[in-house]
Amino acid sequence: MNAPVTPPPAVTSGLPAVLPREATFDPADRAILARHWYPVALVSDVADRPLAVRLLDQRLVVYRADGEIVVASEFCTHRGVPLGQGTMAADGGPEGVICPYHGLRFGAGGRCVHVPAHPDRAIPGQFHLRAYPAAVRYGLVWTCLDPAPDTPPVLPAMPHWDEPAFQQINCPPVDIGGFAGRQLEGFIDVAHFAFIHVATFADPDNAQVPAYRPRRTDYGFEAEYWSTMGNYPASADHKGADGYRWLRHFRCSPPFTATLEIHFPHDGRLVIMNAASPVSARMTRMFAPIARNFDKDIPVADVHAFNARVFEEDRQMVETQEPALLPLDPLAEAHLPADMSSMLYRRLLREMGLSFSNPV
Ligand code: FES
Ligand SMILES: [Fe+2]
Repeated sequence: MNAPVTPPPAVTSGLPAVLPREATFDPADRAILARHWYPVALVSDVADRPLAVRLLDQRLVVYRADGEIVVASEFCTHRGVPLGQGTMAADGGPEGVICPYHGLRFGAGGRCVHVPAHPDRAIPGQFHLRAYPAAVRYGLVWTCLDPAPDTPPVLPAMPHWDEPAFQQINCPPVDIGGFAGRQLEGFIDVAHFAFIHVATFADPDNAQVPAYRPRRTDYGFEAEYWSTMGNYPASADHKGADGYRWLRHFRCSPPFTATLEIHFPHDGRLVIMNAASPVSARMTRMFAPIARNFDKDIPVADVHAFNARVFEEDRQMVETQEPALLPLDPLAEAHLPADMSSMLYRRLLREMGLSFSNPV
């Protein structure tokens, strides 16, 4: 189910790693989370300026050079100026990002390719940026801060994304002032529709949750949830969906990614990926690629607007939950039978060795 990809090799700077100025994660948790892959940008946003992003408290710069996308430490190896403040080279010289302070230029793989003060001298290796592997999938740039050596990355699979009958849409990323685990758990929660999503798609008189049973898989777990709760926008004609039993097929790849494949009437399929990128323990950037084989004539802007409203409904819950981190102790919160998926999700996170026990 998971999809291997081949990223370009990363360059290692000769300088020691710069630790994040602000560490919001328990160090043991962070070491485990750093081995996984997360999206950090829309591919379409990596264009004519360097992009400053953050992952697990680590500040990174994303840019293009010589046909590849580079993800590297944001700080210039010379005097530590953030390269997100830099510019992209457009003078016909080596491609890459130019530091605003003394003009050092960094190209493919994070290599320092030009030093204006000494243009004719060889450039020592310690001027290279610490670069991380970058993989492009589902319209997103993914990276990993501590990849296992010699192991190809495995990204969460997205059903139907590559099929010709499906349209691919990428919603603008959503910034959430909360923890990625809380956000992801909200995505796999089937008991909240009738309360939070009434203005967008849900029926307030249909709150009961039919039984379902999540199953473990090689990537995490999946759950097939059958119910009569529709998924058409509240404003839309229901297109003969009376009496239809909706299937929501969740596939969860811990730590923070899941897909939801919704079976619509007349063989319609809508797949939405919820890839929660842990900016810090208190901040999440949620990426949401969508694939669907119906309503392809609806303007993409309308799809963005509808999903932005749904995400906003969820955001208001995630940002107020206490404790902010997802409690993994089964006795820390009360659970409903409807919470089978979230209980298994928490169990898998515990099995990964995570604790999320430290307050942030
Ligand atoms: S600090 Fe970047 S070139 Fe000097
Ligand atoms: Fe929701």
